[in-house]
Amino acid sequence: MIISITSLKGGVGKSTLTQNLAVCFAHMDYKVCIVDADANQSSLRWAGYRPDNLPKIMVSGQQDENSLLKNVRLLNNDYDIVLIDGTPSLSKTTSKLLLIADLVIIPILPSGLDFWATEIFIDRFVEAQELREKNIPAYFLLNQYDERQNLSKESKEALGMYEIIKCLENNVKSRSAYRKAIIDGLGVYEYNDPKAKDEMVEVANEIIQIMSKIS
Ligand SMILES: Nc1ncnc2c1ncn2[C@@H]1O[C@H](COP(=O)(O)OP(=O)(O)OP(=O)(O)O)[C@@H](O)[C@H]1O
Ligand SMILES: [Mg+2]
Repeated sequence: MIISITSLKGGVGKSTLTQNLAVCFAHMDYKVCIVDADANQSSLRWAGYRPDNLPKIMVSGQQDENSLLKNVRLLNNDYDIVLIDGTPSLSKTTSKLLLIADLVIIPILPSGLDFWATEIFIDRFVEAQELREKNIPAYFLLNQYDERQNLSKESKEALGMYEIIKCLENNVKSRSAYRKAIIDGLGVYEYNDPKAKDEMVEVANEIIQIMSKIS
């Protein structure tokens, strides 16, 4: 199963959510690896800090657009779940990641700027879907969601209007645990904030349910 975590905007939480989902899946006994398709290689660095006594998560650095698809397919033979940490641009890589994915997760922040980027993303997504001649299951994931803020609630409602890309029921709040856990090569599943852990497990379970309907 290939899951692309992608967006057209930088800093929306692609790497954070890729790493945290990988950690959850690994603790749920899935054999999981990350393909780091971004030039800043943040997931590759994160893996370098990961303690040896925790479930292993292989991270493969893939910046070469030409070999990306072939390598992801090869990894998909060996792993239950291949998570791709995508690039923040309208590059060829972003389109390729849409072409190869069994499932696409698009983190989005509750802000106007992110919504404008979404419109362009949807155009790109429609093109990829036409090329593949099949539906690509794709879901927005609201990151840094704050239920006390109208903007967060309005963003969720607005995302619900798109038919082609759905929205995950679970959201991810802004928590310092996400920033801190990463520094030690951990996910919040392995950190000291039970609410963050529960939240990420809920997201991971929702994704597993979606995957079970795809395969
Ligand atoms: N839910 C969250 N709570 C708190 N901080 C968060 C959360 N999600 C992401 N962050 C922080 O926001 C910043 C951007 O996140 P991240 O690097 O994961 O985004 P990205 O989409 O991978 O960025 P880029 O496009 O540059 O690769 C990081 O400092 C990260 O620690
Ligand atoms: Mg990143």
